[in-house]
Amino acid sequence: MRPGVYRAVGRDGQEYLLHRSASQQLGWLTDLQRDVLRQLADSERSEESLRAQADDRAGDRGVAELDGLLRQLRTGGWLHITVVHDRPAYTIEPYRPPPDPPTGEPAGDLVLSRFAVIHRSGADLLIESPRSWCAVRVHDPAVLTGLAAYLVPRAGTDAGSTPLATRIRSDLTWATMLVGTPGDEDTAFDLRQWSPHELWFHQRSRGDGIPDRPFGRTRWAAGRFEPLPARRPSFAGPAVDLPRPDLDAVRRTDTTLTGVLEERRSIRRHDDQRPITLDQLGGFLYRAAGVRRVAARDGVEFLTGPNPSGGALDPLEFYVAVRLAEGIEAGLYRYDRFGHRLERVSGLTRTVRRLVDAAQSATGSAEAPETYPPQVVVLLAARFGRVGWSYETLTYSLILKQVGVAYQTMYCVATAMGLAPCALGAGDPAAFAAATGLDPLSEGTVGEFIVGSRPDRQGAT
Ligand SMILES: Cc1cc2nc3c(=O)[nH]c(=O)nc-3n(C[C@H](O)[C@H](O)[C@H](O)COP(=O)(O)O)c2cc1C
Repeated sequence: MRPGVYRAVGRDGQEYLLHRSASQQLGWLTDLQRDVLRQLADSERSEESLRAQADDRAGDRGVAELDGLLRQLRTGGWLHITVVHDRPAYTIEPYRPPPDPPTGEPAGDLVLSRFAVIHRSGADLLIESPRSWCAVRVHDPAVLTGLAAYLVPRAGTDAGSTPLATRIRSDLTWATMLVGTPGDEDTAFDLRQWSPHELWFHQRSRGDGIPDRPFGRTRWAAGRFEPLPARRPSFAGPAVDLPRPDLDAVRRTDTTLTGVLEERRSIRRHDDQRPITLDQLGGFLYRAAGVRRVAARDGVEFLTGPNPSGGALDPLEFYVAVRLAEGIEAGLYRYDRFGHRLERVSGLTRTVRRLVDAAQSATGSAEAPETYPPQVVVLLAARFGRVGWSYETLTYSLILKQVGVAYQTMYCVATAMGLAPCALGAGDPAAFAAATGLDPLSEGTVGEFIVGSRPDRQGAT
């Protein structure tokens, strides 16, 4: 029986199987069926031994009851099924009810799906695909030899006609790990649009992707690793204290929410004759990213402010690569969201220039090939462990959602301040790692945003 399955009995005596992702009504079970269910929940059983038991107990009627139950369990995707040839070859581990198995030999050539991934899991190899309803746990390396035959398209029977080869072919076709070619993966837009890593990420970061694995705020690292503090250690260099904007004054004079939303535009050119000032940069960062409240519970620190965040664990750090701004030297800085200061990381080195150049080239397009150097590039870095300590499986998707939240807040604040904002879709994470010396596995860029003075809005604050 698949892990995490419970049996429940309704008031009328009907039995159900329950899992956090699914349930199935089994109906009224006989004593024999209930006993088989209990045995399967307990440990692995061979079909032969169950059949012999049923035969002993109730003859043909017992075997028919057993077959009826096994059919329900198989079609419901409740059983892990191990195929044994001399020794255990592989186990099919369903995540959800399977489609009907294919009948007969598949027509045409077969090939390994481009979405299938094989990796070690304990002492086994796991074959998985985001297109599949199951994983295949391979115990016997001979199975992989059989599978490797399908690295190039070939007629099914060319890869061997031993009982094991035939069974692997049929099971892996059923599991959408072997696919017909030419087939949907080559021709259908719905599949062509997905690169394997994107479909993997999409499917796994949604709750129903792998219902048998931990998902969500499990706090898996509690007791194993220390949670990361909300406030990151400072860089050693000198820091510039930023003036705090007078929020009461801003409240009185600010444009309305509707004004901001309706005026907001991406503006990719800045006015170098009147560059953004340090006051403006400070006001922009405070209003878009400053931390307003911090709390702690069970050793975990939470923060909030203008930006909502999953679990109040906002992991973003705001770095600014300044090419040109009044009142501050060009270079790379980290914005201290708690202390409202800019900590100097470096001057405008070649590596920091690379960050500015990458941002500039991201603003080019076939329709508008002319680009302009941005005055300030906001580099959004995530301290992955802030979210990864508490969450499992969807950590990275939460972080990217956080980037979306920060982008919109920065657009709104920049628009309200008469600045020129533009979000960017890609940057140069290697240049960021080189410029900061940070390990990209623990803190790396996940978003970029440019901001500067607006060419048509002189004197706006
Ligand atoms: C997630 C995201 C990524 C973006 N990436 C880029 C980019 O790489 N380069 C660019 O010039 N604009 C980028 N933009 C800005 C969009 O091109 C812009 O929002 C869109 O064309 C609509 O124009 P508007 O913002 O003026 O309404 C991005 C916007 C978002 C929200």
